[in-house]
Parts: sequence; C-alpha cells; structure tokens
Amino acid sequence: MQKLIIKGKKSLTGTVKISGSKNATLPILASTILSNNKITIKNVPFVKDVITMSELLKYLGSDIKLNFKKKKIFINNNKKSFKTLAPYNFVKTMRAGIIVLGPLLSKFGKARVSLPGGCAIGTRPVDIHLFGLKKLGAKIKIKDGYIHAEATNGLFGNKIKLPSISVGATENLIIAATYAYGTTLIKNCACEPEIKDLINFLKKMGANIKWTGKREIKVIGTQNFNAVNYSVMFDRIEAGTFIIAGALVGKKIKITNIDTNILKKELDILKKMGLKFKTQKNKIIIFYSKNIKPVSIKTEAYPGFPTDLQAQIMVLMTKANGVSKIKENIFENRFMHVPELNRMGAKIKVSGNLSTINFSEELNGAEVMATDLRASVSLVLAGLIAKNRTIINRVYHLDRGYENLEKKLRNCGAKITRVNN
Ligand code: UD1
Repeated sequence: MQKLIIKGKKSLTGTVKISGSKNATLPILASTILSNNKITIKNVPFVKDVITMSELLKYLGSDIKLNFKKKKIFINNNKKSFKTLAPYNFVKTMRAGIIVLGPLLSKFGKARVSLPGGCAIGTRPVDIHLFGLKKLGAKIKIKDGYIHAEATNGLFGNKIKLPSISVGATENLIIAATYAYGTTLIKNCACEPEIKDLINFLKKMGANIKWTGKREIKVIGTQNFNAVNYSVMFDRIEAGTFIIAGALVGKKIKITNIDTNILKKELDILKKMGLKFKTQKNKIIIFYSKNIKPVSIKTEAYPGFPTDLQAQIMVLMTKANGVSKIKENIFENRFMHVPELNRMGAKIKVSGNLSTINFSEELNGAEVMATDLRASVSLVLAGLIAKNRTIINRVYHLDRGYENLEKKLRNCGAKITRVNN
C-alpha cells in the first residue's frame, strides 16, 4: 500500500491547471451505451473511477479506447453486442457503476447490476433510482445482491416526482428517458453543473432534453444519435480544493481552466472568510490569507455549498480566528476526517451532523489514515500547513478522484512524495 509524505509549511507559488470533472465524466461515459455512433470525449480526467467505468464499459462490450496523453476517450459501439450484467467487482469500488442501469435497461430491455452497498460516508441506498425506473415501466427485483430489471418492450415516458434530490438518480433517469418511448418529466431533480454537462453532451448527440423549471427536466425519447465530439467541464471540487490550498499556503497561486460562475457559492463563502483572490471568467489568482474569519455553513444540493468540499473547508476553518460551524446535510457519516485532524492538533467537536471548529494556533504533522476521497485531500491540506512531517496512509482513496495531485502541488513548491510500504 502506498503512503504520502508531506513536509509542511512550504509556501506555494505557481499555476495549477484544473482537470476535467470526474463526476461529469462518469455519467457521460455511462450514457454512451445508448449510441451506436462515434463518440469522442475530451478533457477526460484519468482518475481511478474513470478508468473503472471505462473497464466496466469494455466488459459490457463497448469498443472504447483511452488516450491518456491527449486526455481523450474514443467510443464506437457500432456492430457491437452488449452484455447486460454489471458485476460486483466493478460497482463495489465505484458506486457510480449504478448509472449503467438506466441505459442498459432502456436500450436492451433488461439489466442486472450489482447493488453498490454502503461506504465510509453513509449507507447510500439506490431506492430513488429504482423508484424512477419503475415509473418508466421497469419491473425490478432485488436478489442475491443484484438489481434484476426488465422492460421487455422498452421503457415508456412518464411523470416522475423524485421523493428527494439525488444526483445519481437524476442522471440515471435522464439517460434512461433519453432512449425511452415518449415524453418524460422529471420533477424535484438535482441540478448540479455535472448534470447540466451530461445534458449538454446528450443534446449534442441528438437527445431532446429541456429544463422546464429550476428542478424540472423534460425529455422526449429518441433511438437515433449523431456522432459527437465533446469536452467535459472542469472539476469544480478540484478547483475548490486548490483555492483553499492557495489561501492556506500559497504566496500566489493561479488556478486555470475553470468557470468562476459555477463556483459562485463557494467563492461567496470564501470571500466572507476574508480570503484574498482575484477572479476572471476562466481563472482565479489566490493569495495567502492571514486574517481568516470564522463562518457557519451547511452543505446542500447545488446551488448550495457542496458536501464534496466540506472536509477541505474544515481545514481552512481551523485557521479562522473564532468558532466556525458546519452542518452536513447530504451524508450521515461524513466527518470521518475529524478524528484524524484532531490528532494533528485541530480542535473540532462533532455532534450528530454538526461540527464546531475552533481556531488552532498550529497543526502538527502526524501519521494519519485516509478514509474516503474528500477526507483524504483534507489531510493533504492539513499536512501542507502542519509543522514537521505528515504521513497519509491509504492514498488509493485520493487516486479515485484527483488527477496528478502530488505533481500539481510539487510544481508549486510543495514537498510531497509517494512511497510504497
Ligand atoms: C454524487 C457525487 C458525489 C457527491 C453527491 C452529492 C458522483 C459520481 N458522485 O453522488 O461526489 O458527494 O452526488 O453531491 O457524481 N440517496 C438515497 N437514495 C437514492 C440515492 C441517494 O437515499 O436512491 C441519498 C444518499 O444516501 C445521500 C443523498 O441522497 O444521502 C444524496 O445522494 P446523491 O445525490 O444520490 O449522491 P450520489 O449520486 O451517490
């Protein structure tokens, strides 16, 4: 198993080019099952989850080629026959594997997809995905850890009001409805930028999808798709992570390849905390921020503050001059990083879904354990500001979602190395 070793307190200067979004790439890749035409996807982040999704598509029968150097994926499913079984070994490491359920079922009339199970941050059920697919006419049974879904004559458009907001369920249903017969109206859907990116991709491929309200989408099904060449949006969580790194240890860090309009909520909060930055449409320059102010925030579905940036902003709050609070509203167990940050000298208390963060004069390097993707990167941020050496175990969590994190940090002057045990 690999470890990261960070020597803290080095100030960073340089430019960081943000990669394409993992959370946009995954549903876009799943949706390619619908098409028999040529597809080129650009600005692909080759993180572990994207590789796993590509391997799953290959296993299913997709003719998929990865060009790591050019950050492109080529797919041409013409004349290919598909399997309709997504086995456990793919879905257990990457929960987004559940998103192949919608396209397989819609196109081939049946699918068997492993139940993803829980993970460190919560139980993460898939009931909303299944609720929506049943509304489109699917017959679904759960047996032996698998979802067995059938729609012998295809799926048929319907009105679906989601019982609560889910990013993955919204994506699964948009993709399924794209190939279904007739019109589907999805109400109370998620409206994350990654969902907008998926819709833009599908529309470019020939799908008929419209936003009919802030949380309402209308999809008119089609079975014919054009060849498409599409560039994935930037990773807004990676961008947020580097903005926070810049405020903590950056002399001056330029963050490029982004769209600052999409980061509005995050930037508003960081401004309230007194961070010093200059924004242009596609870049941010962030300076070391001395007098950080405490704030109280809650995580919410977009356009609220993202749960995927909660662990990172918590590290920034340890440097705020007073008491900050975070209410985690999306996942029931997403404070796994707190005990590790406290071992490094942070003063954070957790009560249910509320954490209270007090100012810490200084964090101290320690040996810590990464528990999930975003928790891991918060430990990297903590390591960058800590005295002495921080050793982070289980870094495979980081590799699921951050492309070249160490290289990007090293290019700005960070002392960070990866070692094998
Ligand atoms: C996606 C993101 C993840 C992000 C999350 C919330 C991807 C690949 N992952 O995950 O990084 O943290 O959105 O922004 O895009 N829920 C149910 N039943 C369901 C589905 C979800 O109860 O059928 C619950 C979940 O347990 C969670 C909440 O709804 O408490 C939101 O989950 P959801 O939006 O579905 O997250 P994911 O799509 O899994």
